[in-house]
Amino acid sequence: MHLHKFEKIWLIFGIAMLAVFLGIVGVQAFTQGQTPAGGLKKIDPEKVDVTAPFDNPGVHQLNDDTYEVVIKAMAYGYEPSEIEVPAGKEIIFKVTSKDVIHSFTIPNTKVNMMIVPGQINEKSYTFKEPGTYLILCNEYCGTGHHFMHTEIEVVEE
Ligand code: CUA
Repeated sequence: MHLHKFEKIWLIFGIAMLAVFLGIVGVQAFTQGQTPAGGLKKIDPEKVDVTAPFDNPGVHQLNDDTYEVVIKAMAYGYEPSEIEVPAGKEIIFKVTSKDVIHSFTIPNTKVNMMIVPGQINEKSYTFKEPGTYLILCNEYCGTGHHFMHTEIEVVEE
């Protein structure tokens, strides 16, 4: 088989880049402790409904300044569907999936997690302004993916 010189150069370049990118991910994971959002806390994805904290989804006040919001993602929605939290307080989202990979994305904030079944995905955020915020799934998860969203109500303290 004859390969044109430029074709060879681009093939070598492409394979080298693959090795470089995989190497970067490997170095970050193994030497810099980079993990999925919230670390590597595992649960049995078959037993989400009976495993703490997901046996009690919803908003829980932890102390004067901190709230925890426990959410289950599934095709094609989030449970609970109504969430209300105060502005100006730290909100810790703990999210898992009951079936496939989804995401938990609140546009125009830094909250954007891939929701992996069998993992407790965690992100903390403080809403400065009250209002209604959209939560949506931006990982393609099936035929109903584009319907998968909910809202979070952020109210004045
Ligand atoms: Cu869930 Cu897309």
